[in-house]
Amino acid sequence: MKLRKTTMAAIALAVLGGTGAAWAAGDWNPEAKLTINGDLTLTTKAKAPANIPGLKEIYSGWLFRDPSTQAIEEDDFSNPGMTAVDAGSALWSHVDGTAGKSCASCHNGIESMKGVRAAMPKVNKAGKLWSMEDYINDCRTNRMGAKAWGWNSQPMVDMTAAISMQSRGMPVDVKTDGAAKPFWEAGKKMYYTRTGMLQLSCANCHEDHFGDHIRGDHLSQGQTNGFPVYRLSTGGLVSIHKRFFGCIRDTRAESYKPGSEALRELELYVASRGNGLSVEGVSVRP
Ligand code: HEC
Ligand code: HEC
Repeated sequence: MKLRKTTMAAIALAVLGGTGAAWAAGDWNPEAKLTINGDLTLTTKAKAPANIPGLKEIYSGWLFRDPSTQAIEEDDFSNPGMTAVDAGSALWSHVDGTAGKSCASCHNGIESMKGVRAAMPKVNKAGKLWSMEDYINDCRTNRMGAKAWGWNSQPMVDMTAAISMQSRGMPVDVKTDGAAKPFWEAGKKMYYTRTGMLQLSCANCHEDHFGDHIRGDHLSQGQTNGFPVYRLSTGGLVSIHKRFFGCIRDTRAESYKPGSEALRELELYVASRGNGLSVEGVSVRP
C-alpha cells in the first residue's frame, strides 16, 4: 500500500516535471549557517517537534537555495525585502481613518510587536483562529475607522514584513493545543489530503521529497518561518497564503481564497511543523 502510494506520487510528479525523469538527489548542505550582516546566526535546522512524526529534522527554506540567493538574504543591504520593511515601518506611524490614529498611537514603537510573528496564527479572544493580517485589519477597521487592507496588498505585506522583522531570531512557537487544537487538526488533515488532477498532498512534495528537484526547482520542506518572502523572479513580497494558493493551484486543484478559514488552519499546521526554527523576518527566494 505504502509502495503503491509512493509510486503514484512519483508518476504524478513526473507528469508535473514534464520529463518523466526520476528524482535526482539534491546537493544541499543542511549544515550551512545563515548569519545576517555577519553577526546574527539564525536557527535553520532543528529537531522536529514531537507532534510531527513524519520528519526527523526541520529545515529552513534558505538551506535549499543556491549560494547566490542565500548570500542575498545574509546581507540586509542586498536583501530587496528590506525596502518593504522600511515602508511598513513608515506606515506604522501614519495616521489613517476617522479616529485620527496611527498604529503607534496605541502600540507605541513597532518594537512592541516583538514575538508577535513567532506565535501567529493564534486563537483570538472570541475563539477564532486569526492570522497576523486579521489582527491588523481588526485594528484598522474597529479601532482606527480605516479601510481594511487586501490580504496581498502592498501596505499589508509591507506591514507584515515590518512586524515580522521584530521577531527575527526568535523561535517559531505556535500553540497547537487547547483552543488551537481543532484548527490544528483541520490543517493537518488538509496537509495530508491528496487533491487536484495530480492527486498530490502537501506531504507528497514537502515531506516525502524535500531535497529533490522538480521542474528545475529544489524542493524544500515548505516551511513558513521565512515569510513574507521576497521573490527575485517576480520582484515582490509573497504572503504565506499567496504561496499556499500557488502550491494548491499547481496540483491542478481549485485553490482557496487568501484569508479563508481553510488557509488559516493550514497556516497554523504548517507553522507548527517549523516550531523551533528562527523567524527570519523577510527571506529571499528565486
Ligand atoms: C486604538 C488603539 C489601536 C490602534 C490604533 C491599533 N491597534 Fe493593534 N491592537 C490594539 C489592541 C487593544 C490589541 C489587542 C487586541 C486583543 O488582544 O484582542 C491590538 C492587537 C494588535 C495585534 C495583535 C498583537 C498580538 O500580540 O496578538 C497586531 C498585530 C496589531 N494590533 C497591529 C496593529 C497595526 C499594524 C495597527 C496600525 C495599522 C494597529 N494595530 C492599530 C489597539 C490598537
Ligand atoms: C507538486 C509539488 C508541491 C506540492 C504538492 C506542494 N508544493 Fe509547496 N512548493 C513546491 C515548490 C516546487 C516550491 C518552491 C521550492 C521550495 O521552497 O520547496 C514550494 C514552496 C512552498 C513554500 C515556500 C517555502 C519557502 O521557504 O519559501 C511553502 C510554504 C509551501 N510550498 C507550502 C505548501 C503547502 C502548504 C502545500 C499543500 C497545500 C504545498 N506546498 C504543496 C512544490 C509543491
